[in-house]
Amino acid sequence: MKRHLISAADLTRDDALLVLDTAEEMARVADRPIKKLPTLRGRTVVNLFFEDSTRTRISFEAAAKRLSADVINFSAKGSSVSKGESLKDTALTLEAMGADAVVVRHHSSGAPHRLATSGWINASVVNAGDGTHEHPTQALLDAFTMRRHLSGPGRDLSGRHVTIVGDVLHSRVARSNVLLLATLGARVTLVAPPTLLPIGVERWPCEVSYDLDAVLAKTDAVMMLRVQRERMNAAFFPTEREYARRYGLDAIRMAALPGHAIVMHPGPMNRGMEITAEVADSPRCTAVEQVANGVSTRMAVLYLMLGGSEPALSAARTDEPGSDEPRSDDPRTRDADRPRSEETK
Ligand code: NCD
Repeated sequence: MKRHLISAADLTRDDALLVLDTAEEMARVADRPIKKLPTLRGRTVVNLFFEDSTRTRISFEAAAKRLSADVINFSAKGSSVSKGESLKDTALTLEAMGADAVVVRHHSSGAPHRLATSGWINASVVNAGDGTHEHPTQALLDAFTMRRHLSGPGRDLSGRHVTIVGDVLHSRVARSNVLLLATLGARVTLVAPPTLLPIGVERWPCEVSYDLDAVLAKTDAVMMLRVQRERMNAAFFPTEREYARRYGLDAIRMAALPGHAIVMHPGPMNRGMEITAEVADSPRCTAVEQVANGVSTRMAVLYLMLGGSEPALSAARTDEPGSDEPRSDDPRTRDADRPRSEETK
């Protein structure tokens, strides 16, 4: 794995599979009475959020806490950023706090890249969504969800058909998913009105269609994107009703999917726009499960980027001998399925 996770393209197929397999192990931790591992004890994870977020922020916070890291949550609103403090000065403050990982969401595409390459901080940088650019951990949690529902032996997604529908132009989720799914060998079709497709989409590793009904029958997972009105400065479609009629997923369209196919949405959903309430609440819709899977996936990412190597772990143990030794009655020591890090203790 690279030191930073800025783009889904930073992940080789082996990296992505390692994250997804580690996330499976992390998910088993969530099923235990004690949902915590000592792996990142003494490490500091900063959640640096310049843009609104519900799911992603609490998911990274839960992930870091379940790995016993110290977590600092920074939100631009109410901080000195609203007094005009620059990204550089904010970064230098984080460095002074001893951050080991900085999870950053920013309204500007490229801000996490700038943070990772500027030399302002030594921490690993994880992109939690930058402008309309990328959201690699969302793509990982989506692939994790697809693997759980769709893949056969070896949890292989190759040859699976994923259809991503809607506001591709403003969607960092779509871009990261297309890149990661291509790495994993899945076939992706984007469906959107021509006005909501980015320039250069023909060079993306996917197909493009303007007709949702034509692709549903051969789809294993359909991912509905939120219409991002807050990023729209022009009229991209005639009316909301017209958009929903052509590109929204309702019960009739859902019935055209193969029986095994799932309906995905990264949230937040515009019910009645890209997805009807009936579909959103149906058992085929994995939106809530995606949130739960997000915690396991982000645990895996933080674990592999910060503490996943055995030397890092044994060094941590030598620093504070015996302070958090799991007791023999501790479920962590009893479970045979514990993540690899625990086996070194
Ligand atoms: C997405 C985002 O913020 O890019 N949501 C998320 O991370 N759960 C998608 C969106 O906002 O529509």
